[in-house]
Amino acid sequence: MNLSENIYPEFEKMLSSTEKEHFLGQKGFVFWLYGLSGSGKSTIANAFERRLHAEKIHTKLLDGDNIRSGLNKDLGFSKRDRSENIRRVAEVTKLFIDNATICVVSLITPKRIFRALAKEIIGQEQFLEVYVKASYETCAKRDVKGLYARSKTGEIKQFTGKDSSFEEPKEKDQALVLSTETDSLERCVDQLQDFLKKRNLLSITS
Ligand code: ADX
Repeated sequence: MNLSENIYPEFEKMLSSTEKEHFLGQKGFVFWLYGLSGSGKSTIANAFERRLHAEKIHTKLLDGDNIRSGLNKDLGFSKRDRSENIRRVAEVTKLFIDNATICVVSLITPKRIFRALAKEIIGQEQFLEVYVKASYETCAKRDVKGLYARSKTGEIKQFTGKDSSFEEPKEKDQALVLSTETDSLERCVDQLQDFLKKRNLLSITS
């Protein structure tokens, strides 16, 4: 049975995104941060959100570990579950974007097809792809959560970059690349802010 049978979505009656954009004086979109566990995604996402907030910009941060403790707590790390995790986060992000909110997502999103799926759900214009780059070796050395050590002993399976592959972006993905091996947290956040300004993303008249 097709589960989406017998439902009657009525989007036309709803207050439009444009009305919400004018109310808040900003347009919704997402900075989708992806990269290995321990690459620095959450740290950058948190610092960036605080910086936007200080500029009176209305934001929402969606972080993988947090969402997996609530909405997605039924999901594991198989390819299928990761895809579902990313699909749900993309759908939720879209709801926030429709509410004129500037979103920051922090999810490993290890495969190009997952990123393509998120982009398709959200829409190309509103989806800003950001690769938080740090090698497996660097992340394993940092091992803030102790997961790399636990994956080495086999206690954690399907670990990204080890038993489960991570695909870097290709040039045509036009990802903004933040290197946490070479750049400070401050510098990475600056790059996101510069990107925002250069593209004039906040202006509701553009
Ligand atoms: S994703 O692949 O589906 O995008 P997501 O970002 O939600 O992953 O979750 C990753 C977080 O789950 C990691 O930061 C880490 O804390 C935790 N984790 C637990 N098991 C694994 C695993 N096998 N591979 C990667 N991360 C894991």
